[in-house]
Amino acid sequence: MAETALGTLSRRTRFVARQGARVAWFAAHGEALRRLQKRIRQEQPSPPPNITPSKPVPSQRELIGHIIELFRRDLANVEAGIYPLPRGEFGSPAEFLALSRKFFQDAPKVARRRYAGGHQEIFEETRESPSGLPRYYRQNFHFQSGGWLTEESARLYDFQVEVLFTGATAAMRRQALVPFSEMVRAKDQRRLAYADIACGTGGLLLPALEAFPRLKGTGVDLSAAYMSEARDRATASVKRRASFAAAPAEQLPFADESLDVLSTVYLFHELPPKVRRQAAKEFARVLKPGGRLIFVDSLKTGETPAFDGLLELFPQLFHEPYFTSYLEEDLDGMFEGEGLRLQSFETAFFSRVAAYEKA
Ligand SMILES: C[S@@+](CC[C@H](N)C(=O)[O-])C[C@H]1O[C@@H](n2cnc3c(N)ncnc32)[C@H](O)[C@@H]1O
Repeated sequence: MAETALGTLSRRTRFVARQGARVAWFAAHGEALRRLQKRIRQEQPSPPPNITPSKPVPSQRELIGHIIELFRRDLANVEAGIYPLPRGEFGSPAEFLALSRKFFQDAPKVARRRYAGGHQEIFEETRESPSGLPRYYRQNFHFQSGGWLTEESARLYDFQVEVLFTGATAAMRRQALVPFSEMVRAKDQRRLAYADIACGTGGLLLPALEAFPRLKGTGVDLSAAYMSEARDRATASVKRRASFAAAPAEQLPFADESLDVLSTVYLFHELPPKVRRQAAKEFARVLKPGGRLIFVDSLKTGETPAFDGLLELFPQLFHEPYFTSYLEEDLDGMFEGEGLRLQSFETAFFSRVAAYEKA
């Protein structure tokens, strides 16, 4: 049945109200965070010098323009039936407020690590007891408390990332559902074998299982705490179709040519170059011929030239030891070398969304 004009208006109003409030909320947190960081920086006996990027950085107005464009596409995708109207992923208003409090309790610790040069606490803590986790992984990425290893970190991670990207992160991830839906629409969902690698707290796995209600999926990650958070956040219907496995991206727990769809979001910039190549090889090994890799990660230099200065600053402001090498990585060439050919590519605010097909 054709939708009435009132139905369309009501959906658009809900979308704009929810996403507008979300952007305003996280923008306010970003502003408060900048003030707090400034104060903590001034308290340091020898604060690190201010960094000036060699390339231009976008103004606040330009950034907002890109965010509006992203949400415009997001709504168009909803209206095209690619995925449902997004639900908030932070629970009830009371839970949302509790997270905000926790965020501000933790933020001074993150800022002190940043200005006093602390990003190896996790390595020091796990030095004596063999954790089985690779050395490169045992760091306080983004200076975050607990690195990837604690429940507290898992609870705060998405909130912290949304503050960084002014509430637009979930919408950037959702753009992965566009090439994903092309694959799913062409086949019987129930017969597709799907895994999200480095699933974290379920940032893509959960929306994908919501968008494709007969699909089953396995989240793979090295962090038990993050996967447990993902399980807790899943609705009953998604929980029945989701499973989880603790494993590294560079040694996946799947048989050769056993998966139809693989996705990975914001992993590759966290990996050392050698491990990136091992992971690409693993992806090619486990995908069936004709299978697809849906890849979302940070933009690389030149993909949105206006953001190049910010990309240059990023690894210096946050602990991102492998980001600079990621910016130079020929990702398409690397996947092509493993037999994964580029099918589609789009930018989405600070992300690149690409799909590769195994020959
Ligand atoms: C930046 S987070 C992204 C999480 C999630 N995909 C998202 O969209 O929010 C990176 C995730 O990668 C995981 N990770 C890092 N290195 C990994 C590796 N070698 N194998 C599997 N997971 C890894 C971390 O535990 C963390 O959950």
